Amino acid sequence: MGKAENSRIALPIGSNLDRFIMRNQEDFPYASGELSQLLRDLAYAGKVVNREINMAGLAGITGAYGAENVQGEEQQNLDVAADIRFTRALKKGGEVAAIISEEAEEIIDLSNPRSKYIVAMDPLDGSSNIDVNVSIGTIFSIYRRISPQGSPIQMEDVLQPGKNQVAAGYILYGSSTMMVYTTGSGVNGFTYEPSLGEYILSHQNMQMPKDGKIYSINEGSYKSFSESVVNYIESCKDKGYSARYIGSLVADFHRNLLKGGIYIYPSTAKAPNGKLRLLYECNALAMIAEQAGGRATDGKQRIMEIEPSELHQRVPFYVGSENMVLEAEKA
Ligand code: AHG
Ligand code: MN
Ligand code: MN
Repeated sequence: MGKAENSRIALPIGSNLDRFIMRNQEDFPYASGELSQLLRDLAYAGKVVNREINMAGLAGITGAYGAENVQGEEQQNLDVAADIRFTRALKKGGEVAAIISEEAEEIIDLSNPRSKYIVAMDPLDGSSNIDVNVSIGTIFSIYRRISPQGSPIQMEDVLQPGKNQVAAGYILYGSSTMMVYTTGSGVNGFTYEPSLGEYILSHQNMQMPKDGKIYSINEGSYKSFSESVVNYIESCKDKGYSARYIGSLVADFHRNLLKGGIYIYPSTAKAPNGKLRLLYECNALAMIAEQAGGRATDGKQRIMEIEPSELHQRVPFYVGSENMVLEAEKA
């Protein structure tokens, strides 16, 4: 698994995202600029969603967000609004053959004969935090389609294991907005500068600490955790680790990526297969974690090896600092 030890001179901190994408384009096998354009389309939709999120507290108060917007569209809640923004950007961008979204039951076949990419996305992650002004995010995975370009999308195109991802990332709408992504040669983070309307390289070649002192799990479900999860949580308490749980996977993951930590969403009585979705939540973060030197499993198996059988499949999710995840698996 190659890290960002590119032979070319890396762009310095402060470079903008577009330049960075262009410069790194030759790293992709079969590079033709399409993946670069696709990443830019996602980044653009992220700006639009970011703007809407910043206005969310005023929705319904200022009158700017009424029953209809300027285009005569009905005002949507942010989950749906984000889905529309990303879907539209990908449709217009023309690089995507099909989309899998948390907000759409079926595959969205864009019937684009010249595109070879599939995007799986959670347009708005952490939606319970929207109304309370807490960090939320967007998660995306990019795959190359398997069936020939121009033919109708097949299940095999979208039910690919995470190890087939060609790129993955997230946009975190937090105290600042950031896009973090990987194309398989390291992880880089870009902070959005709203007055310039640009994402600026702020976190180069991100590395997840091998150990950490933070555990993130919804302990409200403690009574239905397996013995192994209980043992692990107890061991975290014995060591005096800090519990941090935002309830937005992207935000919890991002903190643990920077500081070292583990996030677990195990199987519970309410969610026997865990809650998180393999195709558009776990795989993307698993690829980023691994690219940054971390680890992601379902407690037993590497997340990216799981062969999906359904679009909205759920899996238990253990992700974070390598040694912490290894320990949780053994507990
Ligand atoms: P989404 O908003 O896309 O449905 O995802 C919510 C997820 C994830 O972001 C978060 O970590 C988890 O649900 C929280 O679930 P609990 O409230 O059960 O802890
Ligand atoms: Mn989610
Ligand atoms: Mn969501």
